[in-house]
Amino acid sequence: MQNTRGHFGSKIGVVLASAGSAVGMGNIWRFPTETAENGGAAFVLIYLICVAVVGVPLMVSEFVVGRHTHTNNATAFKKLAPGALWQVEGARGVLVSFLITCFYIVISGWTLYYAYASLVGLLSDADRDYDAFFNEFQSNPWQQVICTTLFLAIVTWIITRGVKSGIERFSKLMMPMLLLIIGVLVVCSFSLPGSSEGMSYLLHPDFSKLSGTMVLAAFGQAFFSLSLAMGNLSTYASYFRDDTNLNKTAWSVAIIDTMVALLAGLIIFPAVFSLPNPDPSQSGVGLVFKTLPYVFTQAFGGISWLGYVFSLLFYLLLFLAALTSAMSTHEPVTAWLHETHHISRRRATLIVTAVCLFFGIICSLQPSLLHDVPLLSLVSIDSLDTLTSTFMMPIGGIVISIFVGWKLDRQLVRDEMTNYGRLRFRLFGVYIFLLRWVIPPSIATVFVLQFV
Ligand code: PHE
Repeated sequence: MQNTRGHFGSKIGVVLASAGSAVGMGNIWRFPTETAENGGAAFVLIYLICVAVVGVPLMVSEFVVGRHTHTNNATAFKKLAPGALWQVEGARGVLVSFLITCFYIVISGWTLYYAYASLVGLLSDADRDYDAFFNEFQSNPWQQVICTTLFLAIVTWIITRGVKSGIERFSKLMMPMLLLIIGVLVVCSFSLPGSSEGMSYLLHPDFSKLSGTMVLAAFGQAFFSLSLAMGNLSTYASYFRDDTNLNKTAWSVAIIDTMVALLAGLIIFPAVFSLPNPDPSQSGVGLVFKTLPYVFTQAFGGISWLGYVFSLLFYLLLFLAALTSAMSTHEPVTAWLHETHHISRRRATLIVTAVCLFFGIICSLQPSLLHDVPLLSLVSIDSLDTLTSTFMMPIGGIVISIFVGWKLDRQLVRDEMTNYGRLRFRLFGVYIFLLRWVIPPSIATVFVLQFV
């Protein structure tokens, strides 16, 4: 059934928009450090198994839900199965997207600022204390509010343009740009003196690190990186056409996502190891906003314009990755509001933006103005991140796999995965087996183990 809602116009648009959601800051600052700390290539191997066994089947399941119903995540579950539990699941997806947008726009605003700071040369000074630079930036309320607002304004502008001329068009523009920048940065990084040390730090397989903790880390990373159980993949899939090959799309997204994550490591560690006293132990926000600016000023042996270009491209890369991900969490909430409350898409977008901005600003003001205000401290990047990735997403993953594996009519699932018999899909039985017997207990185990 092809209906009148917006839909993606091309296969490449589908892949790039979905990959745009998956490729985010998690790939660039989380994957490389997780890999390096957890046994290099040994971690990558476990990660790949998690992607293939849990990630892709779950992604295909979310695609099935969205594409079959051609509607937002909340209505999709309502349409497919009456029953309170399933409706809660539909609403959970929309809520997760909303909560993630609220804090993700703040961090994304930082990438915007750092891209600007690189451009105007603020990050070119080798003698600057970049720890202090970041702390000052974070404790400046005006800068925080402006960056968050500006970033969200860009997302809003794209989302108001709709699915085809907004999300698809910009993904088709930004994802190739992102891949090109990665290519250039990898080549530059490889020309640095620390490249082989950096590579071996990242990839040297250390199987002695193989442990429950490592599997836990790989699992969590795969889940977050593929944007699973956020309600956004099913919303994007509701715009897929009937001839979109769901399985192939999911594999393409997983491959692009993993490649970008690995290449990000090949950009960061050679640069870190090109310094006389490399300190690769920093991770996350500290690595990206405090360590790397300094690394970039030093990496090219005093050739300042090379450091300048490298730093500018790197923060541009981070900004693009953040933008395509933020688009994908704004859209599910907008689609839900637009479709269930019968207000225009434009209006729905603006309402979602206003509410996200409100909470985003509270998050952004935590380090400066609000850290002592008792109740408001609950609305912070850390607490929203924990609430979504530690609790809401794993639970959603379990429910989705049970829903598609057990509850949905088997023929319906087969029809969606084979495009009503037009495609051959040999793995169908395997996917159903995984959704029924492997994925729910694995997520449940990981969920419990993280508290032990
Ligand atoms: N997959 C994204 C990442 O790696 C996660 C994400 C998606 C975060 C959408 C926010 C919005 O960063």
